[in-house]
Amino acid sequence: MPESRETQDTQTSETVEELKLAAVAALDSAESEEQLEIWRVDFMGRKGRLTGLLRGLGGLEIDERKIVGAAANRLRGELEVLFEGRVSQSRSTQTPVGSIDITLPGRKPSLGGLHPSTQVVREITQAFNEMGFQTVEGPEVELEKYNFDMLNIPASHPARDMFDTFWVDSDTHDDILLRTHTSPMQARVMESNDPPIRVVVPGKCYRYESTDATHEWQFNQIEGLAVDEGITFADLKGTLYEFARRIFGPSQKVRFRCDYFPFVEPGVDMSIEWKGDWLEIMGAGMVHPKVLENAGYDSTKYTGFAFGMGPERISMLRNEIADIRHFFANDLRFLTQF
Ligand code: DAH
Repeated sequence: MPESRETQDTQTSETVEELKLAAVAALDSAESEEQLEIWRVDFMGRKGRLTGLLRGLGGLEIDERKIVGAAANRLRGELEVLFEGRVSQSRSTQTPVGSIDITLPGRKPSLGGLHPSTQVVREITQAFNEMGFQTVEGPEVELEKYNFDMLNIPASHPARDMFDTFWVDSDTHDDILLRTHTSPMQARVMESNDPPIRVVVPGKCYRYESTDATHEWQFNQIEGLAVDEGITFADLKGTLYEFARRIFGPSQKVRFRCDYFPFVEPGVDMSIEWKGDWLEIMGAGMVHPKVLENAGYDSTKYTGFAFGMGPERISMLRNEIADIRHFFANDLRFLTQF
């Protein structure tokens, strides 16, 4: 009769479903290989519950037998896969008793170290700290006002071309940028401190330019600033000469030549004698009166000097590194040499 058939059909397929629920729950709670074996015999063995269910199919009508038989066979396949998974999981997490060999020699854990840029930055800032300069840091995401305007580089100034700039919003050229140098900290430090000032400012800078062996789009700089009454160009030369001797050795020769930077007047670059050549290692100069005024200082009372250098370049000289891009490529073959 159609009605009783349907009832029976539903009941029998429910039994497949019930068996599935029971089997999965029992498999989940089997914790050892022995328990897994017991499960296998219970559900999948010759006298197990699945075999029992398949045997019971004989009592069904041919149509139902097909449907229920197919469901039961699918279940067998599923349970076999689940079972194999649990067996290999249990093998991989088991620690076989007695497998720890306490006589095996230990492996030395490898120690991390400071990044080569950090090392040279610390060495240089320490040299200046010993000469009375305090280390301060500033923001890498900077306002146009500090990166340019307060340093005597107004919007129309051609010197802005020297600094290929990453604007935070490249469409609007809004007033927020990634600092192109550490010089903005000159303005920030003066704005919130009274003279005398002696600071060094290490930190990352960014330039929107193509890279090559001597140019990277990110690099470190170390800025220096000294402001007080009566500071002269002789103080600048004496301080930077002493710096060179501390970093490169007591007989290091240096050379100053005129150069142009909008925030100093006069401006110079300093070179060191290196293997028979003169190599430029920093820009420097007497702080431009406008920069002092912009920060609220009386430029008839105070004078100062400023300088800026690239520590990676200094490390490249000393360690004969041919390509600045090594510093940020994160290759352990390079990094572990320091
Ligand atoms: N900010 C300059 C640059 O990135 C470097 C520099 C030159 C800094 C002269 C100074 C300075 O403080 O006086 O190219």
